[in-house]
Amino acid sequence: MTDAERKAFGVYVHWPFCLSKCPYCDFNSHVRHAAIDEDRFARAFTREIETTAARTAGREVTSIFLGGGTPSLMRPETVGAVLDAIGKHWRVAPGAEVTLEANPTSVEATRFAGYRAAGVNRVSLGVQALNDASLKELGRLHSAREALDAVAIARKSFERYSFDLIYARPEQTPAMWADELALAIKEAAEHLSLYQLTIEEDTPFFGLHAAGKLRTPDEAAARVLYDVTQEVCARHGLPAYEISNHARKGAECRHNLVYWRGEEYAGIGPGAHGRLDIDDRRHALATEKRPEAWLMRVEANGHGVVTDDVLNREERADEFLLMGLRLAEGIDPRRYAALSGRTLDPGRIAVLREEGAIVVEADGRLRVTKDGFPVLDAVVADLAA
Ligand SMILES: C[S@@+](CC[C@H](N)C(=O)[O-])C[C@H]1O[C@@H](n2cnc3c(N)ncnc32)[C@H](O)[C@@H]1O
Ligand code: SF4
Repeated sequence: MTDAERKAFGVYVHWPFCLSKCPYCDFNSHVRHAAIDEDRFARAFTREIETTAARTAGREVTSIFLGGGTPSLMRPETVGAVLDAIGKHWRVAPGAEVTLEANPTSVEATRFAGYRAAGVNRVSLGVQALNDASLKELGRLHSAREALDAVAIARKSFERYSFDLIYARPEQTPAMWADELALAIKEAAEHLSLYQLTIEEDTPFFGLHAAGKLRTPDEAAARVLYDVTQEVCARHGLPAYEISNHARKGAECRHNLVYWRGEEYAGIGPGAHGRLDIDDRRHALATEKRPEAWLMRVEANGHGVVTDDVLNREERADEFLLMGLRLAEGIDPRRYAALSGRTLDPGRIAVLREEGAIVVEADGRLRVTKDGFPVLDAVVADLAA
């Protein structure tokens, strides 16, 4: 692939700390009771950015995403140092999307102006629920009022913002969810991420669920909630462009599209993943997850990479399928064929079409239908077999 053909290049930066650990969350996030040495982290981020940029010369950064953990616990100066380092070591496209994930507490909202001044132009707020009983159950530190206040400050501070909600929560009925969603859409304007609650292993929710103390909607009830999500959002002009993400046309998160379209991105910080094309081969990279161990590695070696695997054709093509079929726009089967060296099985495509799980558009693109999305893993497994 030549430079001119590269369309998008994302940089993901991971901030691995939170004030407390939510009982459903298995992200790489840690709680520290001592103060975090942000200057030391800023220096390490800068070094890892420099090293990674040297491996990816010539790229133009089209999106930056500061995720976590809770990046809104970073001082604006730390965010500024990270963005300055990216701008120094890569070329950044004019108008690049720069997103920061924020928790919607009043303390964090006071930093929004500082983030804006540092170069952030979009925030993604972890609202999770718009009623206090659910927020408490989810172990969140903010109230619904506080979250809506943070949304209002985000609206004034940034060109673009989005927020996350978790649905299929204990006791949640379709009517309750439809009302909550209608309020969310009114507040959200252009983008919403709506995740079905997943019970992750090694989280407190997993133990409670297994012991019967946390009752979540069964498959059929969750399906009804999913259908409500699609219907209400589509009716309000926020159709799903990805299985859990809804946006007005043109307001999609460009950074996340990089992942789903199988384009290149660099991962910076503890436990960050990257996909880079080096010498025409796709590398899957991951850094050390433990924050302090990552710091020491970066200080010693200039980077925290602990995994750097070259994907073979099959692995590359499977990843393309797995990520691309999450998108409403689907995939181009010719790209799959170019990557894997084989075409998708026409027999399997015919069966999945008959079952109503996929459609093949006039231009040849293959996409998953509304009925196929709830069983996406099975659809992907079937096509990739
Ligand atoms: C890295 S996290 C969040 C950012 C921020 N720390 C926060 O919690 O507000 C990204 C999003 O993943 C979603 N999420 C995390 N764990 C989940 C789970 N077990 N099931 C469903 N959604 C989950 C939440 O909506 C969360 O906002
Ligand atoms: S959901 Fe967000 S705030 Fe809660 S532990 Fe996970 S990353 Fe931290």
